[in-house]
Parts: sequence; C-alpha cells; structure tokens
Amino acid sequence: MATPPFDAFQYAHARRRQIVWMSQNTNHLVPAQMVREAVEEALRERRYEGYPYAPGDPELLDLVRADLGLPALTPFLTGGGTESLYMITRALLAPGDEVIASDPSYLIIHRFVELSGAHTRNLDIYAPPFRLTADRVQAAIGPHTKMILLIDPLNPLGSGYPRAEVRAIAEIAKDHHLLLLNDVTYRDFSYEPTLAAEFAPEQTVTVWSASKNCGMAGLRIGGFSATPERVNAIARYNTNDLGVNILSQVAATAALRSKPHWIGEVVRQTRANGERIAATAATVEGVTVPVHPSWANMTILDVSATGLSPEAIQEEMLKTHGVFVRAGNYLSPTHGSKFVRVSFSNSPGDLDKFATAFPETVHRLRTHAPTPPAA
Ligand SMILES: Cc1ncc(COP(=O)(O)O)c(C=O)c1O
Repeated sequence: MATPPFDAFQYAHARRRQIVWMSQNTNHLVPAQMVREAVEEALRERRYEGYPYAPGDPELLDLVRADLGLPALTPFLTGGGTESLYMITRALLAPGDEVIASDPSYLIIHRFVELSGAHTRNLDIYAPPFRLTADRVQAAIGPHTKMILLIDPLNPLGSGYPRAEVRAIAEIAKDHHLLLLNDVTYRDFSYEPTLAAEFAPEQTVTVWSASKNCGMAGLRIGGFSATPERVNAIARYNTNDLGVNILSQVAATAALRSKPHWIGEVVRQTRANGERIAATAATVEGVTVPVHPSWANMTILDVSATGLSPEAIQEEMLKTHGVFVRAGNYLSPTHGSKFVRVSFSNSPGDLDKFATAFPETVHRLRTHAPTPPAA
C-alpha cells in the first residue's frame, strides 16, 4: 500500500504547543487579557445556553461600522470572512459569469466562484508590481465580466494597493457596472489602508475578518458590509440563520473596543519581524523576497533558484525545527512551486527560531538532496 502523503496540519496540531505557527497568517501578538476576561464572563453567565440575537450584537455591529469607517453601509456577521465569501459568490454570480482575479491569490475564493458556475480570469501578477493594476483590469474586461476580486493587501504576496489604484479600480467597476469584491482581511497591516467602498459604495462588497487583525482565527468571526439591498440579496444564502457563535461575538466586541490601544504595537512588531525575515533570507543563496516590505503580515520567499521544492522545505522545517511555514502550491497554480509563504505576527522568540531554522533547512536539504538523474 502506498504511504499517504505527509499531512503537515495533522502533524502540527498534534504538537500544537511546541510549534511556531508561521503558516496561516495568524496573529500571536494581540494582548490576550481583554478577550479572556470577556469570554470568561460570558461563560460564567452561561450565555452559551441561549441563542445569540440573530442579527448580531448591536454594539459589535456599531464597532464594525466605526472600525471600517463605513457608517452608511450595513455590516453582516458570519462565521469568519470565509463564510461571507461563499455567500457573496453564491448569491451574486451565475453560470457563465467571469470574475477578474489574480494568480497568485487566495484560491479558496476562486473555488467558491466556480461553485456558482462562474469562473475566474486570473491575471498573472508574479512580476512587479505583484498586484493588479487598473490598466490590466480594464483590458481584461470582456462581455461576461461580472465582478472584480480585489484582495488588499494580497495573500500570499503581501503586496498592497496604493490609494490611487484602489480608486481607479473602483471607478472601473462603476463605469462598467461591475461588482467589486474587496477582501480587506489584512487591511490593518497596510501602509495605505483604503476601502474601495469609499469610491464605489453601490458596487462594492467589503469582506472583513477578526482572524488576522484581532488575532482570533480560531473563533471564526468576520463578515461583510454593503448597501442594505445588497446585504439582503446575499443574506438569502446565510446558513447560520440562528446567529454567529456568542463567545466569538463577545470576544470580537472586546477586541474591537480596545483595538486602538494595541493595534499600533502589533503592526510595529509585525513590520520589524518582516525586516528580520528579509535579512535572514538575504543570507541564504538562491532565496529572494519578491515583495518587500510586505503590506500584510506575511511574505513569500522565492526558493526556485535553490533547486529545492517548497514542500520539502515545509516538511523539514516543521519536523526538525517545529517551525511551520507554508508551501506555495495551494496559492498559485502557476508559481506555487517556487515559494514558501511565511507569516510573522509572532513573538521575537518565534522569529529567533525561524532565523535558525530556515538557513539550516536550506543548507541541509541542499547537501542531502539526491543528485538529479543525468539528462
Ligand atoms: C484574503 C483572505 N480572505 C479571507 C480569509 C479567511 O478569513 P477568515 O478566517 O475570517 O475566514 C483569509 C485567510 O487566510 C485570507 O487570506
């Protein structure tokens, strides 16, 4: 019987306390106290015994409006941004529709597009400026184009959109009556956080998440914001009809209430870590950092010139050093075999481990790599 392929997630979760999690753009820098206290109180009050107020806690919805700076648009809570992305694509796309998107990208969204019978037109962005441009979006519009997918900043590259480019893309959406799906999951790490809804409120659906900025990926809470009519159209596909997990709502409320006090330090440490990763990569022959500085809390390390596979690097770093980075294949059909993605909203101690693990891994794999067969 063939050996099953190595399951990095199963391996890492089974050892979760020893693992340095640099694999899923999670955030390990947010002070834990306010979330812990709020959730402990909710547990003491046994709030889990009842259903939540189905439309979502009004204070939380107000905090979301204020945090996004979109007071006129309606926020809708879901179990993470992922659920929003599924609902939006399902509700707004029909068979034959085309969505202008990129490669690399957060491909889970592309899969949701396909479930609606629509398809993505992936513009190759693995070259400067490593993001879409208004000119390329404009040129890609065809008779079946229905939506533009604007992930800003972009997972996995860490590239972000200057304000003028967001505006230009939003204007294209307006001029051509296209929908604009603006995924702003990593917005708080951006050097120029700009919401397309500011320029095209009617066309834009903004997807946000508490997973990365508030460091609560495991609690699964996020949502989308749009005009009330659009929210109603999308909400028809809500399966979480009885409301989003009450403990997640309590935690997100506590986090958003206190966010102005801690987000600055989280971003400062994240950026310092990004510098450290680039400095480490610079010591390893054959490794480049295509996008630096990152506008998010992740970066990719292009390892193609080392001759090593990203999967081999992922496995060796995890098994030998307990440092979990991610091979690029699930993020790009064309370029995924060239890079590993490293996320870095982590403690300085985690960064120390990375700084040892990565060069040692590349060195070890190079010296032990089997010689390629002669041509
Ligand atoms: C661009 C992007 N959108 C959405 C998500 C999913 O976020 P959530 O945890 O809120 O479901 C991710 C997670 O990595 C992401 O990178």
